[in-house]
Amino acid sequence: MSEISVRVLQEEDWPEYRDVRLRALKESPEAFVASAAEEEDYDEDRWRSRMQRSRRLLAEQDETVVGVVSVGSHKIETPGAGELFGLWVDPAKRGSGVARKLLEAAAAQARADDLKHLIYWVGTDNGRAVAFASSFGFRPTDNRRPMEIHGVDDAEDAEELAMVLPLGNSSGVPTSL
Ligand SMILES: CC(C)(COP(=O)(O)OP(=O)(O)OC[C@H]1O[C@@H](n2cnc3c(N)ncnc32)[C@H](O)[C@@H]1OP(=O)(O)O)[C@@H](O)C(=O)NCCC(=O)NCCS
Repeated sequence: MSEISVRVLQEEDWPEYRDVRLRALKESPEAFVASAAEEEDYDEDRWRSRMQRSRRLLAEQDETVVGVVSVGSHKIETPGAGELFGLWVDPAKRGSGVARKLLEAAAAQARADDLKHLIYWVGTDNGRAVAFASSFGFRPTDNRRPMEIHGVDDAEDAEELAMVLPLGNSSGVPTSL
């Protein structure tokens, strides 16, 4: 099988990010807070500012986009902490190592950006994502928050759990998220 490659996108690559992000929101509306309907209306300036705010990593195989993840520390006040979010893999490519490649690249990028921990908020009902993040090394914490899913009806009780990945020599879980 051909190789999976992951690259960090530049601001100019915003259309590629937009396309995969909208694919993800349409395919897995229950996994994300935002909905495709709201993001489809974003203009170019908004996509460009999103590119500046966080790193966007794209996985490709045979010149086709097969997954995406974001990493950054926008709105995070804990020093050295960053957030991993927006993880999605094309359904046809699940279970094939794409998600692992994306997270390896995201962790490497986070280390290069001097981050000491990555926080990942994931739906408590999302067994596959929780299982995958655990097997990668993310540790569950006691932190929970309501998950306001915009693209799905009947999701009022949805909740997210914070998982934490220590990077490098860090001691583990930050004292606050
Ligand atoms: C979450 C996601 C990126 C994981 O990628 P993936 O390719 O499916 O992950 P993998 O198959 O490598 O790993 C999933 C793990 O969960 C296990 N698993 C599969 N289905 C499961 C389920 N319903 N419940 C619990 N565990 C499950 C698999 O056996 C595997 O465990 P292993 O690594 O010990 O073998 C992918 O499923 C996805 O894009 N989902 C939709 C979007 C999403 O939920 N994103 C996360 C929210 S931000």
